[in-house]
Amino acid sequence: MLVTGGAGFIGSHVVDRLVSLGHRVAVIDDLSTGRRQNPNPSAVLHQTNVASQSVQEVFEREHPEVVFHLAARASVSASVREPAVDAETNVLGAIRVLEAAHLFGTRKVVYTSTGGALYGEPERLPCDERHPIRPLAPYGTSKYVGELYVELFHRLHNLDYTILRYGNVYGPRQNPYGEAGVIAIFGGLMLAGKQPIINGSGEQERDFVFVSDVVEANVLALEKGSGQAFNIGSGVGASVNRVFDLLRQATGYTGGPVHGPALPGEVFKIYLDSSLARRELGWRPQVSLEEGLRLTVDHLRREAQLQGAS
Ligand SMILES: NC(=O)c1ccc[n+]([C@@H]2O[C@H](COP(=O)([O-])OP(=O)(O)OC[C@H]3O[C@@H](n4cnc5c(N)ncnc54)[C@H](O)[C@@H]3O)[C@@H](O)[C@H]2O)c1
Repeated sequence: MLVTGGAGFIGSHVVDRLVSLGHRVAVIDDLSTGRRQNPNPSAVLHQTNVASQSVQEVFEREHPEVVFHLAARASVSASVREPAVDAETNVLGAIRVLEAAHLFGTRKVVYTSTGGALYGEPERLPCDERHPIRPLAPYGTSKYVGELYVELFHRLHNLDYTILRYGNVYGPRQNPYGEAGVIAIFGGLMLAGKQPIINGSGEQERDFVFVSDVVEANVLALEKGSGQAFNIGSGVGASVNRVFDLLRQATGYTGGPVHGPALPGEVFKIYLDSSLARRELGWRPQVSLEEGLRLTVDHLRREAQLQGAS
């Protein structure tokens, strides 16, 4: 198995799970936002740019049966500032991986996409997979172009695939740069007794899904969901103000909310209909927002203690 982006937040959890299932796992990651210590020690780390020709050398060595493609520039706001840099990793990176998968006999590609940044401001909620695609930021467009290439490689070379469109994923090891960075940012600041700033009114709603639930969708995609795209979300919206309150309870932070300007390119309200994933993959989310936030804060607290001790 090969996990691109396996030193990142979600990818490293996918690696852990595959290792625990007994698979031999290799990782491609350039460590731009990922951390060297994240991937399971029994996984082989190839520190390589996924958008470079050297991806083929990794495939030549590893001959992965299945590739989980998670390497990406995952920040909406960075994509607005630097759309070409975003596209280089997210579009060219996807093409490089697909090309190598085709050349070296990979059975299937599980492509990571976004449910939160693909549909634009939804016409209906929860938003299903048939909703028109109209991203509000380069990030959503680049992830979607990746999807189009995945489908193309299937038509052209019969390369099997499943596309997973996540909601806002959160949990241990999350860095503040990704799509759902709000929980890592607010949690970290609150534990340090510092004031988080809520972008805009805080009434914007997101579909927060815990990382172990997302990992489970990846594992199910090993054998199921061929040739399909699935929303992977909790099915309910939670406002940033509610997340602020829940995190305040979990961390013991005593300050009140402070608001700043809204960010450009952000959807106001989205949550996902994942009934297709329930039917076809047998997937359903298991971890509630309260429980997931508690687990995340426990992790942030342990990390802060470790840093304090070093
Ligand atoms: N976090 C979310 O809420 C969310 C939601 C929807 C989709 N996704 C997708 O999930 C995937 C993982 O995101 P994450 O939240 O774990 O973010 P992350 O930043 O922790 O992980 C991305 C990983 O890709 C690596 N990477 C970036 N550019 C690279 C390049 N050019 N070559 C090789 N490696 C590179 C980074 O070093 C990092 O380890 C991404 O594809 C992202 O678009 C995330």
